[in-house]
Amino acid sequence: MTEHVIVSLEKGVQTLTLNRPDKKNALTPEMYGALADGIERAERDPNIRVTLITATGDAFTAGNDLADFAKAGATPVDAKPETKPHVTRFLENIAAAEKPLIAAVNGLAVGVGVTMLLHCDLVYAGASATFQMPFVNLGLVPEAGSTLLLPRLIGMQKATDLFLTGKKIGAEKAEALGIVAEVFPDNALPGEALARAQALAAKAPNAVRITKALLKGKDRALVAAQSQAEAAHFGAQLRSAEVKEAISAFFEKRPADFSKL
Ligand code: COA
Repeated sequence: MTEHVIVSLEKGVQTLTLNRPDKKNALTPEMYGALADGIERAERDPNIRVTLITATGDAFTAGNDLADFAKAGATPVDAKPETKPHVTRFLENIAAAEKPLIAAVNGLAVGVGVTMLLHCDLVYAGASATFQMPFVNLGLVPEAGSTLLLPRLIGMQKATDLFLTGKKIGAEKAEALGIVAEVFPDNALPGEALARAQALAAKAPNAVRITKALLKGKDRALVAAQSQAEAAHFGAQLRSAEVKEAISAFFEKRPADFSKL
């Protein structure tokens, strides 16, 4: 258990609230573990009909904790973990979940904070939410099937623009592109998202589950294969001089310099 993810259950909705606001809810292995556990719990517990992911503070999540990326990049390639890393479990679980996943994006969403939205069935956002996938800026590559899912969702040009520039877009733009279903005033987001999640939780559960399977099922094998291809490159890049420079630059609060690489 970690205090950085708060778990609650009300009217069939399990809410997983990221709660590390002083670090913009950057995700640690323990937080991925709690999220992965939450989704597994939802899949087997008939009292949970819907899972809602949201966060405290002014950020949804600043993505993976960069200090953890630096640690992971320093481990030898052949040091195979005994158990599946929590991040892998989380990414696999959100891709495979049979019950609906909803996200309420209350502020900035960076990196995996956007990747996970591509696996959620409904994404709601506060008006001040922002969305950014700066993988390339960090010397990394996208993950979890997002190089397949994002172009399908918003088109190849728009997806390439987001992936290669790492630029930040606002909630209205994300809604226009189709990444977000509906935008609410910031203070209304928690109530509106919970009300919608509870309304979905009250619907016929098999009809909901089958409809989700019909929407997503045909892509699951493709997404899994693309995720594996991305993961191989991601792991190699994590150990690269490019990532080392980018992460050092972040913590030293200076621009990264890739000119000699
Ligand atoms: N990993 C670890 N710590 C992070 C973090 C991350 N991904 N994102 C933010 N933090 C920490 C900062 O180091 C800072 O900690 P400190 O107060 O101990 O110095 C704290 O959270 C607040 O962040 P700060 O950068 O001061 O806030 P900001 O509002 O100026 O900027 C961001 C917010 C998210 C734009 C900026 O922190 C950022 O770019 N973070 C990295 C995002 C990223 O690249 N994620 C990985 C994507 S693959």
